[in-house]
Amino acid sequence: MLSDLLASNRRWAAARVSEEPDYFRRLSGLQHPEYLWIGCSDSRVPANVITGLQPGEVFVHCNVANLVHRGDLNLLSVVEYAVETLRVRHVIICGHYGCGGLRAAMDGGRHGIIDHWLQPIRDVAEANREVLSGIADNEARHRRLCELTVAAQVEGLSRTPIIQSAWRRANPLAIHGWVYDLGDGHLRDLSCTRAVAARP
Ligand code: CO
Repeated sequence: MLSDLLASNRRWAAARVSEEPDYFRRLSGLQHPEYLWIGCSDSRVPANVITGLQPGEVFVHCNVANLVHRGDLNLLSVVEYAVETLRVRHVIICGHYGCGGLRAAMDGGRHGIIDHWLQPIRDVAEANREVLSGIADNEARHRRLCELTVAAQVEGLSRTPIIQSAWRRANPLAIHGWVYDLGDGHLRDLSCTRAVAARP
């Protein structure tokens, strides 16, 4: 019931104020998150909940299958604002095993407009055909493609003019690739971090 959501909201707000009377005054005055999260729209992967971050601590952008399309004005606007104005220190691109977008990209079927959106996943699969075809187990292959896709988005984002110009100005921003396991709730760092090279 929608009315349950509104009632739940009132209880949540009252609990925050009882813990800290100035809670909303403090938060409404300023947001100063250290992190930009680029994740899947999947309802099972809510950034704040799985990282334990509070309101005000993470700037969030979601789309189907956490993709970085370099012509996506929505994503680019979010990234520019996060980097230039909020001055986040870390961008986390987070994929997840069991991603429906990833499965739809690879199932050979037709789903509509989303097939265009998901094309970068098929490009990653094509570029890594040998590695992937060597994995006999379907689920293991899906997981590997998920990781490879995240790593490709990290690489792609790092090459955008927004990030390149931030790094030229020695902004210490780092871009990380993570994956979330729906099965156990664990996040894992894929060790594909990109950051500005240390100056000699
Ligand atoms: Co997903």
